[in-house]
Amino acid sequence: MDITQSSLDQFLTESKPYTNNGKLASYIPELLKANQDALGIYIIDVNGKEMYAGDIETRFTIQSVSKVVTLIYALEAYGDEVFTRIGVEQTADAFNSIIKLETRNNGKPLNPLINAGAIATTSFIVEKEGKNGFDNLSNFLRKLAKNDSIDVNQSVYESEQRTGDTNRALAYFQKGQRTFSASVDDVLEAYFKTCSHEVQVKDLANIARVIANNGFDPDTGVRYFSERNARMTKAIMSTCGMYDSSGEFALMVGIPSKSGVGGGIMSVVPGEYGIGIIGPALDEKGNSAAGVALLSKLSQEYGLSIFR
Ligand code: DON
Repeated sequence: MDITQSSLDQFLTESKPYTNNGKLASYIPELLKANQDALGIYIIDVNGKEMYAGDIETRFTIQSVSKVVTLIYALEAYGDEVFTRIGVEQTADAFNSIIKLETRNNGKPLNPLINAGAIATTSFIVEKEGKNGFDNLSNFLRKLAKNDSIDVNQSVYESEQRTGDTNRALAYFQKGQRTFSASVDDVLEAYFKTCSHEVQVKDLANIARVIANNGFDPDTGVRYFSERNARMTKAIMSTCGMYDSSGEFALMVGIPSKSGVGGGIMSVVPGEYGIGIIGPALDEKGNSAAGVALLSKLSQEYGLSIFR
């Protein structure tokens, strides 16, 4: 059944109070400037039909949603060699946890969608492409989003650099374990900048739509990545995309998704929809509180779970 505008409006209204259940991310001070009450959703079906509701003009930094793009870029450019540096297992730890780098996998992060894992994937790109790595990744992101004007929010980037000591610890530990050899400063510059791309919900919906179409953009006839890489990305999103609530999210929503501390969620309904959501108030795991509520209503009403 096609999603109707009236139900989208209704679910948005019903989910709005959940913005009060969350808090803005404060560990990157610049993110405290966001509007805690905002909630918006943009849906594009695989054929290009668009629907939206709520605060779709809100600008926010992509944050960890970018980890999906980094993964696809690396897989497409370098194939399974990427998995010499990262695993594909859930951690059940916070997104910025360091503990399993020491206790599991010999310094190799458990998956590419936690901070340690995205830093490792970024190190791989930086080693292969040097300073051009970030620009190539950034251009890939713009292409998938069909938006040439996406750029890095400089204040958020600088805020991340100033306060990113946990990420520095994750990077130095990995370098100490010989997981990568690139300069930590170069890797983190690319990683922080990637997280600081400023987007709107439509951009996330466009990226998700290409993934829903298994890497193919029907508008331009361009294949951006292989079906195999699309399949692996959706699998990793569904097992690891919502951090240490990925399991509960799979039960309640069942849509491959990735969240970010800017309040964005990007969701892929395979073969059907690309979805972008913004709701900057985060639950205790770092996922958009109202965004998860909204996705849960949508999924349950329209049977969007991939586990149906
Ligand atoms: O590295 C960080 O901490 C942020 N740039 C991104 C973290 C993030 O979005 C985790 N999301 N829930």
